[in-house]
Amino acid sequence: MLKVENISASYRERQVLEGISFQVGEGEFLGIIGPNGAGKTTLLKVMTGVKQPLAGKVMLDGKNLDSLSRKQIARIMAVVPQSSFIPPLFTVEDVVLMGRYPHQKSRFTTTEEDCQAVEEAMRKTNTTGFRHRLVSELSGGERQEVIIARALAQEPKILMLDEPTANLDIKHQMKILGLARTLVREGSITAIMVIHDLNLAARFCDQLILLHDQKIQAEGSPQEVLTPTNLAKSYEVEVEVDYKPSIDSLQVVVIA
Ligand SMILES: Nc1ncnc2c1ncn2[C@@H]1O[C@H](COP(=O)(O)OP(=O)(O)O)[C@@H](O)[C@H]1O
Ligand SMILES: [Mg+2]
Repeated sequence: MLKVENISASYRERQVLEGISFQVGEGEFLGIIGPNGAGKTTLLKVMTGVKQPLAGKVMLDGKNLDSLSRKQIARIMAVVPQSSFIPPLFTVEDVVLMGRYPHQKSRFTTTEEDCQAVEEAMRKTNTTGFRHRLVSELSGGERQEVIIARALAQEPKILMLDEPTANLDIKHQMKILGLARTLVREGSITAIMVIHDLNLAARFCDQLILLHDQKIQAEGSPQEVLTPTNLAKSYEVEVEVDYKPSIDSLQVVVIA
């Protein structure tokens, strides 16, 4: 579905990524982790065509990202950015409808297909109940659900999420990530998510990539990536990693 081949990226003279290669298949949930400044957001920008890499290429559904227009990319890939500005006077429904832009021939006509996609996106995200409310009046968690609904209205094959739970309480963290996982499992969507919380990464992602020092330091299942040795090298902290049967997942605890 998405193949990253030998990507290097820099800001002016400063190299941030070097020789990054990996691929993600249909129906997989990939987490990208790594310390602050490791280049996670930069990698996401390269994968979405927002930033031009120094070298390497990104293949999207068998096509070079470079050969696709913004609209063509947006029909395959939707992004839930780290923070998104929404003008205050839009209703939930207005915002979700914005997700239809890559499919619309004219900005001024809404087709039956658009309406159906909007309904479906709101149904999946449980936002139908507040469709007429102003987005500026929603809580952080509700807002994030609306942003995800807007992304789903694009009917993407790939969903990119940049720290989607950063400012949410623990209940809403679970809700948002549970929603992402359901979309992956039931809709055969591919999800790629940057996430700081290692315990949530372990619990929700099938595969992880650990970025540090411009490179992929480790990749594979959470068991393979979240080892004390890997985390000590990348984050410079001492951790213990235990299996927690009650949630059937790993738990990372910082010791020092
Ligand atoms: N627009 C930019 N101009 C210059 N340097 C940048 C820019 N964006 C990010 N950087 C630098 O690139 C490095 C990687 O940043 P980023 O990809 O945002 O890391 P992460 O998301 O892993 O925290 C950091 O050192 C950051 O300061
Ligand atoms: Mg970032």
